[in-house]
Amino acid sequence: MPARDVAVVVVAAGRGERLGAGAPKAFVKLGQRTLLEHTIDNISQMASVSRLVLAVPASHVLEATAMASASAVSTSIVIGGDTRQQSIENALQVIEPGTPIVLVHDAARSLAPAELFERVAASVRESGLATIPVMPVADTVKHVLGDLVLETVDRSSLRLAQTPQGFQAFELLAAYQSAGEDFTDDAALVQSLGGQIRHVPGDSRAFKITTMDDLAAAERLLAESTVLTPVTHPTPLVGIGIDVHRFSVDPEKPLYLGCLLWPGEIGLDGHSDGDAIAHALVDSLLSAAGLGDIGTQFGVDRPEYAGASGELFIEGTINLLSIAGFKVNNVAVEIVGNRPKLNPRRQAVEARLTELVGAPVTLAATTTDGLGFLGHSEGLAAVANASIVRLAS
Ligand code: CTP
Ligand code: MG
Repeated sequence: MPARDVAVVVVAAGRGERLGAGAPKAFVKLGQRTLLEHTIDNISQMASVSRLVLAVPASHVLEATAMASASAVSTSIVIGGDTRQQSIENALQVIEPGTPIVLVHDAARSLAPAELFERVAASVRESGLATIPVMPVADTVKHVLGDLVLETVDRSSLRLAQTPQGFQAFELLAAYQSAGEDFTDDAALVQSLGGQIRHVPGDSRAFKITTMDDLAAAERLLAESTVLTPVTHPTPLVGIGIDVHRFSVDPEKPLYLGCLLWPGEIGLDGHSDGDAIAHALVDSLLSAAGLGDIGTQFGVDRPEYAGASGELFIEGTINLLSIAGFKVNNVAVEIVGNRPKLNPRRQAVEARLTELVGAPVTLAATTTDGLGFLGHSEGLAAVANASIVRLAS
């Protein structure tokens, strides 16, 4: 089994103006799925990928997070910049130190197959040189000036560059650190600083989807090939968590719920900050992973957890799951009780928890029709359901 020594940066932050589909290009549908989902799927088939970094528009971070959580590769998401080069610069910030090889790929080359990524990575691994995939030029090429043809160019030494382009991480990082002007590809940037570039055969499926005609060509190609290469997803595991806290008799006690402070609301009692949503969420994740519950992992009555925030438990839990080789698909939480009213802040809670968990967290609320301790506003309950997946080792 080859080493997992490759980080793949996928740039998906462009506006897709030439495609003109009314959405950033990577988020436009090709068949049933977006261009970016196809790209992620193909990269997930690589044996040597260790991490994926997606540079996406700020407006599409949540959508990208959901896509990332459906893939079996550990994925980071960064916000792209004004140019392709700036998007890559942002992505390179989160590459783990010590990663040997980085491949940079356009999300717009959505049908580039895993074997192309492996071919480029193998060349970098074996030669130590930056490597790009290239295609021969099929048409006769002319040099023109105004409306006159000057000459026919000898095309035997010309090639069309594709992505993924591969580099030893240190070389690419150094190039980006000293990059002044904008280059159209990464090989040109590295070469401008004296780096040597190798080429390996490209793949016709790695063409860039720029216009509607390209999208139609990709649709045709996909229709021919999807039947042959079904995508396999690992089986998800589910978990459940419940937490109940009593409302405090102290009117000054602040309410922390869903890792947010709720001004004007009476707080919940508890050894920690009483954040029932955070605690139910943590139990659901630990239960899905077979890692016990919040009490067994954190000993919630231990002195160091007195007043501890929900964030602390969630971050600790995500860390435990990641060490144990799990990735979160999503978590759904429901609170049961009369107050606080959730609707006005639902999105804020969902956004905060989604950020902490690194996968979509959704929130619902209900009352008990006045029945029981929850109906009498003695306390608040939360129930959570988590779905996680074990990463391929
Ligand atoms: N890209 C990026 N950040 C930018 C610009 C481009 O991440 N600021 C990415 C695009 O998402 C794409 C790749 O770089 O995957 C190649 O760019 P291109 O094909 O030009 O895509 P767009 O810029 O989206 O398209 P257009 O130029 O038609 O607007
Ligand atoms: Mg562009």
